[in-house]
Amino acid sequence: MNLLVLSASLNPESNSRVLAREAHRALVTAGHAAAFLDLRDLALPPCDGAAAYKHENTAKARAFVAGASGILVATPIYNYDTTAALKNLIELTGKAWENKVVGFACSAGAGSSYMAVMSLANSLMLDFRCTIVPRFVYATEADFNGEALVNTDIAWRTQQLAEDVARYTRALQSG
Ligand SMILES: Cc1cc2nc3c(=O)[nH]c(=O)nc-3n(C[C@H](O)[C@H](O)[C@H](O)COP(=O)(O)O)c2cc1C
Repeated sequence: MNLLVLSASLNPESNSRVLAREAHRALVTAGHAAAFLDLRDLALPPCDGAAAYKHENTAKARAFVAGASGILVATPIYNYDTTAALKNLIELTGKAWENKVVGFACSAGAGSSYMAVMSLANSLMLDFRCTIVPRFVYATEADFNGEALVNTDIAWRTQQLAEDVARYTRALQSG
């Protein structure tokens, strides 16, 4: 069972990357094979529905997604949605998402965008038959101090999310 933790923020001082690292640490500590893809490390072309599909970094991103059965996505909330960088990745890699288990950890400015991840979750369910883990992490700026996750409840929830992504992935594979 291969898992992937995807950090979807392009901000060098990202809070969601802190969540991604926490989730990855939890998976590795629990003995899971978990890759880590930081979109800051893989410059992707904007999806044009044409030549961008042939870009070498699109192929690398596709291999990361295709190689995982379960994906934990850590994303900022921008304009009551996930980042354009994440949506661009999904547009570029499309069918590689089919039948994956997907969990979300979000970082936002404040509490009122709590449901913002749902439009992407719906799209993944309906377009690619992804199974969305019915638990997600939602952290706000008060939960971080620099690169430290200072809210122990959010840290616990992130570990629970990582465990659930692994658990759902294993269950669906064995079924
Ligand atoms: C362009 C932009 C749009 C944003 N829109 C929202 C929003 O709709 N709701 C919200 O709670 N925070 C919003 N924020 C705040 C970010 O979600 C917050 O800074 C978060 O920490 C970003 O994640 P990151 O640190 O991993 O990059 C926005 C920030 C930016 C730069």
